[in-house]
Amino acid sequence: MDDKLRTPGAVRDAERWTAHNYHPLPVVISSAEGAWLTDVDGRRYLDFLAGYSALNFGHRHPQLIAAAHAQLDRLTLTSRAFIHDQFADFCRELAELCGKDLVLPMNTGAEAVETGIKVARKWGYQVKGVPAGQANIVVAEGNFHGRTTTIVSFSTDEDARADFGPYTPGFTVVPYGDLAALTAAIDENTVAVLLEPIQGEQGVVVPPEGYLPGVRQVCTERDVLFIADEIQSGLGRTGATFACDHEGVVPDMYLLGKALGGGIVPVSAVAANADVLGVLKPGQHGSTFGGNPLACAVATEVVRLLATGEFQRRSAELGERLRAGLEGLVGKGLVEVRVRGLWAGLDIDPALMSGREACERLAARGVLAKDTHGSTIRLAPPLVITEEEIDLAMTQLAEVLAA
Ligand SMILES: Cc1ncc(COP(=O)(O)O)c(C=O)c1O
Repeated sequence: MDDKLRTPGAVRDAERWTAHNYHPLPVVISSAEGAWLTDVDGRRYLDFLAGYSALNFGHRHPQLIAAAHAQLDRLTLTSRAFIHDQFADFCRELAELCGKDLVLPMNTGAEAVETGIKVARKWGYQVKGVPAGQANIVVAEGNFHGRTTTIVSFSTDEDARADFGPYTPGFTVVPYGDLAALTAAIDENTVAVLLEPIQGEQGVVVPPEGYLPGVRQVCTERDVLFIADEIQSGLGRTGATFACDHEGVVPDMYLLGKALGGGIVPVSAVAANADVLGVLKPGQHGSTFGGNPLACAVATEVVRLLATGEFQRRSAELGERLRAGLEGLVGKGLVEVRVRGLWAGLDIDPALMSGREACERLAARGVLAKDTHGSTIRLAPPLVITEEEIDLAMTQLAEVLAA
């Protein structure tokens, strides 16, 4: 290997000094713009992961960077002990985008999920009248909602869950996409159903048509909150503002994160109506950094980008090109593809190679993607990607599968 390359030493150092809770591809990125990344050795890569959808608007979108720079020069943090001048606009504009009364800002996706769980439980005790300590929440097999001890308590992924107990009680797991099983799991103490409208980490698993409207209906009938975790699926990724929109479904609570921070700062939020989020009173929930001025300044611009509809449109239109490219590879190395907008799960023929091997080979050809598990890869390019760039990635993928 060329001993002038900086990558091997940088990979070694990263492995030496960090806990091995990730298994990254051996690329060391030093700069990026739009859909392109450049590594420490000057090699360029097309980004087909987009920070697990945190970079929906591409790297360093000029409008978002300008908002961050302007805010850095004025005010970065106040804590929620005081109100700052970026706060109300962000909350109002996000609430309007969601069609909800109120917003509660946090930082990471897992915090938004925790917030949703806490709000649902409190709503259950105070509004629905569930006996103290008896609330339960129905969740789906194959879920991914984050990494806190409570959230991994209802994960069905042993890597995520094993040896992190004792586990938080109060969750019932049912098969994803099975409305009868979900309905049967609801009892008088059920306060919420918590679902990803499309399961991202599971490999972009789209539930059967009619499932989400069915969940909406049963939740309404049984006085149960429908919490949609749109942290990865939301904010333009699937060709609509929310994945729920494809089936005309409006949940009681949206959980948002990732792209909300514009790829610059961690920003998450819960959006819901006042009869739900209104159960929280001062002192009952919070975060030092949640809703900070820098986060709000950037996230307000994110909401404004989405309000134009341009990114949802791009995702829907370019997603059809991605779909055509991928469907053309079924039987030529791919066993199955699932595509919604610019989001795709591909199952590679396991006899050919693992998802990891495919991603390593793609990286060597200048396309960065990540396996989810086994032979499944998720593609999620930034929504600023062009037709030519999609075609380029499809050509590289075809060659990897044919090799
Ligand atoms: C659907 C979903 N919910 C929650 C999370 C957790 O977000 P974070 O990693 O920001 O805590 C993720 C992250 O991948 C996710 O995909």
